[in-house]
Amino acid sequence: MFITVSGQKGGVAKTCTSIHLATYWSLKGLKVCVVDADRNRSALAYASRGSLPFKIVPVEAAAKATRSADVVITDGQASTDEEELKHLAFGSDLVILPTAPTARSVELTVEMASLLKKLNVEHSVLLVKVDFRQKRCAQEAREALKKFDLKVLQGDIPLLSAFDKAESQGAAVIKAVDDRGRADPRRMTGWSAYCSIAQQIQCQILKNSSDSNNLIAMTA
Ligand SMILES: Nc1ncnc2c1ncn2[C@@H]1O[C@H](COP(=O)(O)OP(=O)(O)OP(=O)(O)O)[C@@H](O)[C@H]1O
Ligand SMILES: [Mg+2]
Repeated sequence: MFITVSGQKGGVAKTCTSIHLATYWSLKGLKVCVVDADRNRSALAYASRGSLPFKIVPVEAAAKATRSADVVITDGQASTDEEELKHLAFGSDLVILPTAPTARSVELTVEMASLLKKLNVEHSVLLVKVDFRQKRCAQEAREALKKFDLKVLQGDIPLLSAFDKAESQGAAVIKAVDDRGRADPRRMTGWSAYCSIAQQIQCQILKNSSDSNNLIAMTA
């Protein structure tokens, strides 16, 4: 299963999404490799602060490292370079486009989706950083995206400080703790949101490709 997490906008949780999807499938017993395709090496930096249960490699080392993986997740960088996006997207079973519920983020996602449509690459939008006090913005963003005929994954990823804590600890949100080492009270909310998204992605890929391997089918 080849998934690319991409988008033109910075800071919309591409790396966070890559790390959490990878954690989900690793905990399901699959061999997962995250390919860090960002010049800033954000996924590698994230991993270096803790111990994540999967391999992360820079894009230059991807050929060998991904050979035995069941799931390969490529964490893209914020870019408007069509050539770069094209290369990243080609060969992916699905491109995930994390999108914040703001006008600019929605506009850039619509642009990126039209490029992917031209390339005939499957893609789905994931609404991220949704503030529970501003659910209406998320609903409006969802409706706007659907008007452009985009597939939007059900449910969204809530805006939670637990994600920031997890990143600074080099862990998935499920393990986020505060300064005194106490478990973050919202960590399960963030984790369940990503679990639900991973399940939907898996179903979507299985539906689209008859030859996805059995290992993945078994965890669905
Ligand atoms: N759901 C969330 N709630 C709160 N903070 C979040 C959430 N998801 C990610 N973050 C935080 O937002 C910041 C940006 O996230 P991340 O690095 O994943 O974005 P990105 O799209 O990969 O950025 P870049 O374009 O720089 O690669 C990080 O500090 C991360 O911890
Ligand atoms: Mg990133």
